[in-house]
Amino acid sequence: MDVDRKKLDPTLVCTCNDLYISDIQEAINDGEEDYIEIMQYNYTLPRCGGCECHVDQLISINDAEL
Ligand code: FES
Repeated sequence: MDVDRKKLDPTLVCTCNDLYISDIQEAINDGEEDYIEIMQYNYTLPRCGGCECHVDQLISINDAEL
């Protein structure tokens, strides 16, 4: 994970795959609720895995709003 890039743009979730909050949210809205599934939805796979906790946070926020 490129922490410096992430600090520059808080909407950037996965610096390895250039996935933003909107990309993760779209996958969640389409029913994905697992880190790997969300990556696959965006036609990629985790590399360093450093974004998993951020993705999990977005999943939790979505669950809390339901
Ligand atoms: S930041 Fe490395 S896999 Fe997402």
